[in-house]
Amino acid sequence: KVYRASTTAPVNIAVVKYWGKRDTKLNLPTNSSLSVTLSQSDLRTLTTASCSALFPASEGDSLLLNGAPSDVSGARTQACFRELRARRASLEAADPSLPKLSTLPLRLVSENNFPTAAGLASSAAGFAAFVRAIADLYELPASPSELSLIARQGSGSACRSLFGGYVAWRMGAQENGGDSTADQVAEASHWPEMRALILVASAAKKGVSSTSGMQQTVATSGLFKERIATVVPANMAAMEKAIAERDFEVFGEVTMRDSNSFHATCADTYPPIFYMNDVSRAAIRAVEAINAAAGRTVAAYTFDAGPNAVVYYLEKDTEAVVGSFYHVLGGVDGWKTAAIGGLKPLLA
Ligand code: DP6
Repeated sequence: KVYRASTTAPVNIAVVKYWGKRDTKLNLPTNSSLSVTLSQSDLRTLTTASCSALFPASEGDSLLLNGAPSDVSGARTQACFRELRARRASLEAADPSLPKLSTLPLRLVSENNFPTAAGLASSAAGFAAFVRAIADLYELPASPSELSLIARQGSGSACRSLFGGYVAWRMGAQENGGDSTADQVAEASHWPEMRALILVASAAKKGVSSTSGMQQTVATSGLFKERIATVVPANMAAMEKAIAERDFEVFGEVTMRDSNSFHATCADTYPPIFYMNDVSRAAIRAVEAINAAAGRTVAAYTFDAGPNAVVYYLEKDTEAVVGSFYHVLGGVDGWKTAAIGGLKPLLA
């Protein structure tokens, strides 16, 4: 018999950025962060997990990512396997009638409906789907918050992809990371008009990975200390209030300021890290021009650890925002719009 479970997980794009670890082993952050989950019909990872006594034990655990074999020996992936197996093993210990799945090799097949190389938060959706597929296969009675604790160990931003809508990852205070989990700030239906325009400024793989980039920032940037002590706590509070009140002016300003603050700490890293390129800066200028023409904030840019821009706007302003971007769109490698997404996986 082959046991199998499939699930999907969405992409999330932070509006208050996670940047910095206080514990690299447990993947605990130096600050809380907040993101918007994008619709799974626009961007998602689909993962199938299977296990069977028929799979040769010598094969070990394996992952096929977009059709190519992918390494699963990394410490982060191993931590996720270990956490999930331990939970399954305790279910099996409590109920001997359950099949012993925890000791069988796992096969994972994972596929993105967007280019992985473009650096579009693929690790977030990837680890979220990975964890949920195995949790479903093992029939673990785990809440999304408990799964977020496991996904966090795979990739920090992944813990936010276990929820739909507007999601916070609370940094937590415990040394073992037990309180460093994600929770939903608001359902997608609370503010469903939110849209994201994704501009692929370069489909080339990014230079400095977020994992190593943030470690260099923590070690060398003075500005970073200010960011985690005062800037982020203020941005988190303002952002939660803006979402509660559906206030796009504040949502937009905090989103842009937080992205600028994060990239400023990258420039303050020694040696400096530059993620944005000329196309990124052109996108910032285009957003400024759109907002100036509208006489209010109708568009807000944000950049992760790469040159691609994500521009948030409300559905009613689609024409003003996406229409005005056409001259910038000529210079990009690709673009896509996405709606905000709910928690429900596309596949049960
Ligand atoms: C800039 O979650 O990719 O996108 O925990 O080392 O896997 P690891 O880092 P990762 O970092 C994401 C950084 C960011 C901001 C964010 O998504 O909050």
